[in-house]
Amino acid sequence: MSTNNDAWGSRVGLILAMAGNAVGLGNFLRFPVQAIQNGGGAFIIPYLVCFLLMGIPLLWIEWSMGRFGGKHGHHSTPFILDSMDKRKFWKYFGVFGIFTNVAVACYYLYIESWTLSYVFESIKGTFRDKSPEWVSDFFNNYLNLEMGIGALVFFLVCLVINTFILSKGLKGVEKAAKIGVPMLLIFGVLLAIKSATLGDSGASEAYPDANAWDGFNFLWTIPSDIGSIFNFKVWLAAAGQIFFTLSVGMGTIQCYSAYLKSKDDVALNAVSAGFTNEFVEIVLGSFIVIPIAAGYLGMDWVQENASFGMAFQTMPFLFENWGPTLATFAGVFWFGLLFFAGITSSLAMGTPWMGFMQDEFNFSKNKAAITFGLVVLAFGLPTVLLYQVGAGGVVDTVVFNEYDYWAGTVSLVVFALAEAILFAWIFGMKKGWAEITSGADIKVPIIFKYIITFVTPLMLLVVFIGAFVTPLDNDWAGAWASLMSGDGWTFGNGSLVKMLTNSGLKADIAAATDPIIIEALKTKIMLTNVARGLLLALFLGLSSLVYIAYRKRQKEQQV
Ligand code: ALA
Repeated sequence: MSTNNDAWGSRVGLILAMAGNAVGLGNFLRFPVQAIQNGGGAFIIPYLVCFLLMGIPLLWIEWSMGRFGGKHGHHSTPFILDSMDKRKFWKYFGVFGIFTNVAVACYYLYIESWTLSYVFESIKGTFRDKSPEWVSDFFNNYLNLEMGIGALVFFLVCLVINTFILSKGLKGVEKAAKIGVPMLLIFGVLLAIKSATLGDSGASEAYPDANAWDGFNFLWTIPSDIGSIFNFKVWLAAAGQIFFTLSVGMGTIQCYSAYLKSKDDVALNAVSAGFTNEFVEIVLGSFIVIPIAAGYLGMDWVQENASFGMAFQTMPFLFENWGPTLATFAGVFWFGLLFFAGITSSLAMGTPWMGFMQDEFNFSKNKAAITFGLVVLAFGLPTVLLYQVGAGGVVDTVVFNEYDYWAGTVSLVVFALAEAILFAWIFGMKKGWAEITSGADIKVPIIFKYIITFVTPLMLLVVFIGAFVTPLDNDWAGAWASLMSGDGWTFGNGSLVKMLTNSGLKADIAAATDPIIIEALKTKIMLTNVARGLLLALFLGLSSLVYIAYRKRQKEQQV
């Protein structure tokens, strides 16, 4: 039986911790890029629909599952799921709720560490009077460990900071959220105001059409070609963003809410945290990177170059347009807000492991936090040491990308689908609805009872199948026509099926003639397999711990 008696200090602390869990690097780095790459306004509609029909329902499901599990002394998903049905396999599905967090933390902490280091670089004035190429190269050089070990050092510093805060238990997480969330909001609002007042003042000879408002308009104008809204690829991207940004399908929400009291509200808390996240994502997330870049470089440049690296490779240079003092402040605000957004999310990723080890193996908070740090160190070092690999112009972030794809994307959908089915169809919607509404401080619209029962699981299933069979060039109509005409489905290299077999890379090798490129691609396949091997080892290792914990419980029940 769990002797883990940690508890939230206050409701404000809980909401800030939950909001901090959701608001993360995904809001500021992933969202703008996803929106640009998927057609701006054409992305926003599917995004909002996914928020309403999958995001909100999953928030309620996860909050109430967590509180339900907490009543039985469980603070992580293996035994929370186990307590909801008598079938024994659910606890192994619950492994996802620890696995995803550890695996995502392995690369997430690395990005978090870049932001911390860039705060210092901004203070030092590193980017003053430098060319755009210099600023961009600085980032690549920073990540190249042959040129200096700063990136590794900052990764370790971030890991130690996270471990230290986690060792203080929920009190530490709550304190970090009470500082981090307001700070990131203040920094975000200040940068958004600057961006909103930029207009076309940043236009130059090289970019005469630059105008910050083009950035807002691109995101907020429904395209005249309304057909793009029905592009399935855009829907998959929107759903993926909703999962990542709300942290649903991860297991952190269940863990946080497992520390609630049995009569505490979950209905209002869940939507408060969810809407706070959406405010930060849609308003602040879309008001900073894209408009500022469009304000100096124009929208054409942004559409061609939108990438997650823009935050580090382009923004520091653009801030320099504001003069030395403002540029320093802007750099500190921007990278500071990313750091606070990152750390309040990475702390959440540590808590399921902590809860599990405390519940099942009576670990102290210190021991649980230190072991989390060590596991992340072991599985995270490959993402740091092998960040950039390549030859002959083929440079890739193989291990990092594999972790992000399997843990940060696929696992979220698999787990969300499993828990939605368990909650609505096995635990049963009657009991499920009672859990959501018990102690509720709002009246939950009854329509959501039906949405949770039918719409959410169905949408999750469609997303999952869609990811599995993504067609060549994302041409769904073409693949369908090919299937109907008897030529079979044309799987794209981005489909889960082809990813599993490395088909895309093998085809690239077959097509390549340059021996250097062939060698680089072979290295890429090898590293892809190494990364997958590591993820598998992590999953199996965690499953073994769940099995040992289960046997331990059985023995305890017998005596
Ligand atoms: N929800 C967190 C983020 O958006 C993981 O970064």
